Amino acid sequence: KSNAMWGGRFAAGPDAIMEAINASVDFDKRLASQDIAGSRAHAAMLARQGILSDNDAEAIRKGLLTVLSEIEAGEFTFSTALEDIHMNVEARLKEIIGEPAGRLHTARSRNDQVATDFKLWTRDQIDAAISGLEALIRALIAQAEAGADWVMPGFTHLQTAQPVTWGHHMMAYVEMFGRDMSRFADARARMNESPLGAAALAGTGFAIDRHMTAEALGFDRPAANSLDAVADRDFALEFLSSASICAMHLSRFAEELVIWSSAQFRFVTLSDRFSTGSSIMPQKKNPDAAELIRAKIGRIVGAMIALFTVMKGLPLAYSKDMQEDKEQVFDAADTLMLALAAMTGMVSDMTANVDKLRAAAASGFSTATDLADWLVREAGLPFRDAHHVTGALVAMAETKGVDLPDLTLAEMRSVHDAITEGVYDVLTVENSVASRTSYGGTAPEQVRAQIARWKERLG
Ligand code: ARG
Repeated sequence: KSNAMWGGRFAAGPDAIMEAINASVDFDKRLASQDIAGSRAHAAMLARQGILSDNDAEAIRKGLLTVLSEIEAGEFTFSTALEDIHMNVEARLKEIIGEPAGRLHTARSRNDQVATDFKLWTRDQIDAAISGLEALIRALIAQAEAGADWVMPGFTHLQTAQPVTWGHHMMAYVEMFGRDMSRFADARARMNESPLGAAALAGTGFAIDRHMTAEALGFDRPAANSLDAVADRDFALEFLSSASICAMHLSRFAEELVIWSSAQFRFVTLSDRFSTGSSIMPQKKNPDAAELIRAKIGRIVGAMIALFTVMKGLPLAYSKDMQEDKEQVFDAADTLMLALAAMTGMVSDMTANVDKLRAAAASGFSTATDLADWLVREAGLPFRDAHHVTGALVAMAETKGVDLPDLTLAEMRSVHDAITEGVYDVLTVENSVASRTSYGGTAPEQVRAQIARWKERLG
């Protein structure tokens, strides 16, 4: 028996394998509420334009609400023979209200329907990502406020570089996640044009009002070109790109938490709630959540690459290839939301080990730059010479197995006689961070100013 929706020209129904490769309802049923919202807006518009009678429109409206409540209650039977969510909903509507259901698809195609549904779904995920990021940023700010003046080592090449403050390090991530938030917001503003009414690809001869449906669905305006409206998925790619960049930031921070929670570092203690044990080694407390967040980027970037590969080379307008867009975005969105929530929990719960941080900051000749700067400022040396003198002092300290502040004044003066007692003031890590007062620098006063700017921005 041929397909009830499009089988007019067919003598036979599809092969089982055809049905299996063609059907998408197993996953696109996640678009049910967006599909019904789109259909309601479309039917209301058709009625106002006199294309549909008020009675039919009312029957459709009520029927769609019934379908929605059946789906929400888990009482709906999805059929793969009906291919996708769009035809499943319409077929059920027909069972409930009869003939008027067949009038709903006037001046519409599944091509503009699916683009509309999928945009609505993606838009919701953008909003969820922005709220998730905001929660994470608030957790980071709380850590930064608590430790605006806790000193820790700053690294380059993962080698001790210069002392920084805990708050400064936390706020570095706030800036990154803040840009992620604005990337999602930019994508939302750009995508927020309604495909509905583009019909199959060419528009329609019916006197529809695309502005009305656009407004009803919260879009800023109808998409300007009907071919483009059904053919492009750049909104999904932009979501996946923004998600990939965000996942990369999460992965880097997760890696730091893995390192920091190791026995060799002990910079932080992760809470029991966000750690796991080992089935054989009783002493183990593993940072599994951090490790998984570090790894999740693989799925998200994978989804982005997969969809780029699907879309490249597709001629206009719609091709069935584009049905491959949804699973990628669904999985990437689920993965991102979970990773954001897990990171937020971990950050809120973790405890910085302030003494360990300070001790680590004071080792590894972390104030060597301060010493070189002192030679420039107090002894008038060119920076390159000061760098060389300081290097010699570091070598001396290393040979003696001590840190820079442990060298005696006589030892220091044997390298350069301009050095005086005053140099010891700049060799402490507290003085080092306190001196970095340039805008955006690590000095506690700068960190607090950055925190204040963020609190004002978040309200
Ligand atoms: N399930 C399809 C998709 O996800 C809906 C659009 C189908 N359109 C068509 N002309 N076959 O892309």
